[in-house]
Amino acid sequence: MKKVGLVGWRGMVGSVLMGRMREEKDFDLIDPVFFTTSNPGGKGPDIGKDVPPLKDANSIDELKAMDVIITCQGGDYTKEVYPKLMASGWQGYWIDAASTLRMKDDAIIILDPVNKNVIQDGLKKGIRTYVGGNCTVSLMLMAIGGLFDKGLVEWIAPQTYQAASGAGARNMRELIQQMGAINGEVKDLLDDPASAILEIDKKVADFIRSDRYPLDAWPVPLAGSLIPWIDVQLESGQSKEEWKAQVECNKILGRADRPIPIDGLCVRIGAMRCHSQALTIKLTKDVPLDEIHGIIAAHNQWVKVVPNDRQITMEQLTPAAVTGTLTVPVGRMRKLNMGPQYLSAFTVGDQLLWGAAEPLRRMLRILLE
Ligand code: HSE
Repeated sequence: MKKVGLVGWRGMVGSVLMGRMREEKDFDLIDPVFFTTSNPGGKGPDIGKDVPPLKDANSIDELKAMDVIITCQGGDYTKEVYPKLMASGWQGYWIDAASTLRMKDDAIIILDPVNKNVIQDGLKKGIRTYVGGNCTVSLMLMAIGGLFDKGLVEWIAPQTYQAASGAGARNMRELIQQMGAINGEVKDLLDDPASAILEIDKKVADFIRSDRYPLDAWPVPLAGSLIPWIDVQLESGQSKEEWKAQVECNKILGRADRPIPIDGLCVRIGAMRCHSQALTIKLTKDVPLDEIHGIIAAHNQWVKVVPNDRQITMEQLTPAAVTGTLTVPVGRMRKLNMGPQYLSAFTVGDQLLWGAAEPLRRMLRILLE
């Protein structure tokens, strides 16, 4: 059995990964070795079989003994350890959730329901670094991979509605604190049916702008507001999150040399762990909607076409409906007034599952095939 080292398994993405690996019985197929940056020698997690004591995640010698390493420890760890491990002559496979290595020429971005061919080519060429994609990119490709497959996409303008989880566990906690604090501020007025809504609104607005509003993890208020900027600012005027859409999407599809233009605005909203995106798609030709539905639905077993119907949309195409599941619904599909080649779509996906953990464990399975 392959020795598989797991690093960063206690964090948020790592915990989701561990949960999925337990559900899918991945641990039955490997010799898992758990690493730690803080507690070497400590007891490993309960996975239904004996595991050795925790190893030091900074020990190149310990890491070198692994056939495969899966890390959710974050970009700083990757920056520090990966070059040293590779320089040591290690011949194993590195599977990483962090973005650090994504755009390296000798790294493959993994999303096997979409790019299994690219992954298999990489393996044949001896590539040993496999990196999970940006969450919005992966979720968009899970949703409309069929359109790319059939060469139907001329360009896409995605407008995102991204959840707090993309910014980290602290940010999720703070979002809930903000929600609670807002409620607390006006609770008495809310409880009084005779109170004036504009008075409540004024109190809420004053509170959100006050220094009593909980604001530590986020740069500016999120609950009761939104943030139309994600990640750092680039010279192009894009945020880094916006820049990733085109470069990562095309790299995943193995067409970085003839990229499909993908560009739009990324916005943080007060959802917990589901990213949503409104897509404006220019098709390469006029294809009837029912054919489009068929092409999208046939692409993979997780995408679900939601009819463009008010009630069904409200029931099925929201973060509340999708959170914690692997289903990637896509709906609101209709031809736009701009012409028959212009398609709208709205899609929702769990940012911690397909957006982060799931492609990693599936890459491990590919290595075990
Ligand atoms: N950058 C993403 C976000 C998360 O901030 O939502 C991970 O891909």
